[in-house]
Amino acid sequence: MPTKKTSLLLLLVFQTALLALFFHLSGHHLSILSRREEPKPVHVLVLSSWRSGSSFVGQLFGQHPDVFYLMEPAWHVWMSFTQSTPSKLHMAVRDLVRAVFQCDMSVFDAYLLPGPRKQSSLFVWETSRALCSPPACSMFPRDKIIPPAHCKALCHREPFEVVEEACRSYSHVVLKEVRFFNLQALYPLLKDPSLNLHIVHLVRDPRAVLRSRERTSGDLVVDSRMVVGQLWDHIKEEDRAFHVMRAICESQREIYEAAQLLPEALRRRYLLVRYEDLVRRPLTQTSQMYDFVGLKFLPRLQTWVQNITQGKGLGNHAFRTNARNALNVSQAWRWSLPYTKVARLQKICAALMNLLGYRQVLSEQEQRNLSLDLLSPLDLPEQNDRQG
Ligand SMILES: *[C@@H]1O[C@H](CO)[C@@H](O)[C@H](O)[C@H]1NC(C)=O
Ligand SMILES: *[C@@H]1O[C@H](CO)[C@@H](O)[C@H](O)[C@H]1NC(C)=O
Ligand SMILES: *[C@@H]1O[C@H](CO)[C@@H](O)[C@H](O)[C@H]1NC(C)=O
Repeated sequence: MPTKKTSLLLLLVFQTALLALFFHLSGHHLSILSRREEPKPVHVLVLSSWRSGSSFVGQLFGQHPDVFYLMEPAWHVWMSFTQSTPSKLHMAVRDLVRAVFQCDMSVFDAYLLPGPRKQSSLFVWETSRALCSPPACSMFPRDKIIPPAHCKALCHREPFEVVEEACRSYSHVVLKEVRFFNLQALYPLLKDPSLNLHIVHLVRDPRAVLRSRERTSGDLVVDSRMVVGQLWDHIKEEDRAFHVMRAICESQREIYEAAQLLPEALRRRYLLVRYEDLVRRPLTQTSQMYDFVGLKFLPRLQTWVQNITQGKGLGNHAFRTNARNALNVSQAWRWSLPYTKVARLQKICAALMNLLGYRQVLSEQEQRNLSLDLLSPLDLPEQNDRQG
């Protein structure tokens, strides 16, 4: 008996030693490898939905001098297959996003019209400061805030090849997409060792989204029809927005819930941002997003962020981020939507609103009473750690 015990013990000691040796060696090996490697680019996906402030957040990243930014590259996929559905196009969208993160712009071959291409063949290319400055365009310096309208006027003749060249010259590639409807489609990108993917999940109060959609519905009709699918032609016009909102609220909830279930190492690559928190504390929240992806919040960017969140005017075009009073805009639904619509929407989006801390109003009086704060604090332990 004692000999058996002893040999068992010996075996255990031997195994432990072997394991320790293995980890020591592989750790050593890894550290040598990583010392030799080039610094890896950081890939950031701003994952959001229509009319949720994602153009604004895209600009916050895109105007940073270390960032190559593209807004909605998957617009090209959707507009090439307008009779398809979001789920059928999910993988094409995912593969396009992966290619663009790797600065392989040949992926657009499938979606651009035949004939000569320019960088201006890309959807809203002028919202990318990187496509308005060297090496893409020599009209503006790389380290200035560049208004998209100015860029569009002066840089629209550059050849398509400059897009790839520009992309390769940045440490951060940031893409904004509203065309993902679950997180599962992104798992392969999160696990891909050649990518360093960080997801900024931007959400907004569905009541504000609905109000904003109503003011810009012409811009969104092709997308909305695709989101609702076959049903679209059989439902009354006044019901359509609610069908779209149901799909959006459900997908945003699924994304949020799936992110909470990620293994810890991947969970750290996901950051939830509520648009309302961003407009209330633009500097704090922007600083948190920059920290999350390893960007410096330069002083002139701080001034710029302060400026654009305190500008005047409500701005109603779907694809622009102008100076506007963002805080006022975020509350506009409270005096401009009828309570009946709000009540109907709250029923449809109740699960998402509860999860994300958007309080329901129970009467028209509550809706119009602006001293009633409808935003609950979000106490996510992981996010508290980061705020530091
Ligand atoms: C911010 O606004 C002030 C006043 O309008 C202006 O002088 C300044 O150039 C702006 N700064 C940035 C970085 O936008
Ligand atoms: C917000 O916008 C509304 C409608 O344009 C306006 O009546 C109100 O005075 C604005 N409030 C602030 C604080 O700017
Ligand atoms: C508005 O809400 C505040 C805060 O709950 C409350 O004190 C006030 O009585 C409300 N006013 C009206 C007119 O309902």
